[in-house]
Amino acid sequence: MSSSRAITLRSPSEDDVDVLFQIASDMTTWEERTEATPAPLNRDTFKARLARDDAQESGKSVRFVIDVDGVAVGSVSLFDFDELARHAEAGIALLPEARGKGIGTAAISQIVEFAFVRCNLRRVHLQVIESNVGAIRVYEKAGFMIEGRQRQHAWVRGKYEDIIVMGILRSA
Ligand SMILES: CC(C)(COP(=O)(O)OP(=O)(O)OC[C@H]1O[C@@H](n2cnc3c(N)ncnc32)[C@H](O)[C@@H]1OP(=O)(O)O)[C@@H](O)C(=O)NCCC(=O)NCCS
Repeated sequence: MSSSRAITLRSPSEDDVDVLFQIASDMTTWEERTEATPAPLNRDTFKARLARDDAQESGKSVRFVIDVDGVAVGSVSLFDFDELARHAEAGIALLPEARGKGIGTAAISQIVEFAFVRCNLRRVHLQVIESNVGAIRVYEKAGFMIEGRQRQHAWVRGKYEDIIVMGILRSA
């Protein structure tokens, strides 16, 4: 991938369903991405979930496709909006072949800017299992701080792990 690649966030389309399903159904990073009990994901169930999310009242959640030079490589989202306290949670995942190339850092920075500038949020937060050191590094590079730790809160592939709570505040 060239250094002049264009990393953008865009709306998902019907053409992106396969990529989004591949990410969502990836059992090897299940616990990294979701608190839900690991389970094989059915494509029709997943499509129905996407449709349900799309039908939600606008402002409840926001999902972008991460696009690199016209190719969908991941997804990044904001959810659990608190309209009163002006914050939301962020989530991100890339296809395996897109990882480790700086794409996640660029995409998380872009969703934070979208949260602050377009949604007028004051704070974005997220959770990450302690063994996901690459993700923690990405969030720190994007300006997130570690705010707390939920001890042994996650069951990850045969052992308990701490959940690291991270957040970023709008500077002004
Ligand atoms: C987490 C994720 C979004 C990060 O995106 P990415 O594009 O792979 O990350 P980047 O390439 O931008 O940056 C990775 C950073 O972590 C560092 N890193 C990666 N693995 C590491 C490890 N085992 N130990 C220490 N640092 C590590 C890299 O060196 C890099 O930092 P640097 O630029 O200072 O060298 C992506 O890997 C992913 O989708 N993973 C699977 C799903 C997931 O875990 N989602 C997050 C849930 S909280």
